[in-house]
Amino acid sequence: MFPVSRPRRLRTTGAMRELVAETRLHVSDLVAPLFVREGISSPQPIVSLPGVVQHTVASLVQEVQELRDLGVKAIILFGVPASKDDIGSGAFDPNGIAQVALRALHSAVGDDVVLMADLCVDEYTSHGHCGIVGADGEVDNDATLEIYCKAAVAQAQAGAHVVAPSGMMDGQVGAIRSALDDAGFENVAIMAYSAKYASALYGPFRDAVDVQIVGGGHRKGYQQDWRNARESMREVFEDIEQGADIVMVKPALAYLDVIGQVRASVDHPVAAYHVSGEYSMLKAAAEKGWIDHDAVAMEHLTAIKRAGADIILTYLTRWFAENATK
Ligand code: PBG
Repeated sequence: MFPVSRPRRLRTTGAMRELVAETRLHVSDLVAPLFVREGISSPQPIVSLPGVVQHTVASLVQEVQELRDLGVKAIILFGVPASKDDIGSGAFDPNGIAQVALRALHSAVGDDVVLMADLCVDEYTSHGHCGIVGADGEVDNDATLEIYCKAAVAQAQAGAHVVAPSGMMDGQVGAIRSALDDAGFENVAIMAYSAKYASALYGPFRDAVDVQIVGGGHRKGYQQDWRNARESMREVFEDIEQGADIVMVKPALAYLDVIGQVRASVDHPVAAYHVSGEYSMLKAAAEKGWIDHDAVAMEHLTAIKRAGADIILTYLTRWFAENATK
């Protein structure tokens, strides 16, 4: 008789469990999503995203300096303009709020923090879509690419180290890469929202950026159907072929299978976005006392890394930086 296998030997003490742990989350894995709003004089709380605010440029700069001091290596910026129009001009105006904020951040923290700029127009369009809406009411893919190229160059000029196209237009990565190169920004990287699903988990984010899609519309014409996983691989490979430096899966927890598949198939860094709805569900259940916030937060973020994400965009970044090393 062989002795019975006893995996529990490796679970006997805290030190032993630490020794054999396969996954360790580190503050440098995380990216903090931050919002900056034009025309406000003090930070505005976002009710459905407890602990997250719409910043003024000054409070944003202070937040990023504090995050830097806590060891955070990257932020991703979203702008909320004072006025919107049909084509989302604020996204590429050199004096648009995100560009103004990027310049302020770049002069305050320089290259100590990777400054990522979300590249989309939905925060800036009056209809709330991620592109230019054609006469047929659909988002016009190729007309939208021209606007994205202008936004990429404006963001790079303002000091972004990384631009992150999130609009799910076909060909967006290649178009943006060419525009950046032609403008002399060969060193500005592209983090592509490659496999981005038409998820119901973005609700609190839309509160954060004051976006309502006109006529109760949706994004199913450009974001992916959440019944599909193989389709994600096509999106990821196409983005890599077009020059993406980092590929992303979004949301995270309901898509761990997709994260795992992408990780197994490419050598590029893989990012995952732990989105607003995932964060809000955690906060709401914890506020009711139904779950232990810190324990669930660690379990969730670690699971995203275990599935294969090298980089996690999460509203929990500051919490992690402040608490996880204690
Ligand atoms: C689009 C964009 C969205 C998010 C990031 N970029 C919203 C959407 O596609 O409707 C969602 C992020 C989150 O929910 O935290 N610019």
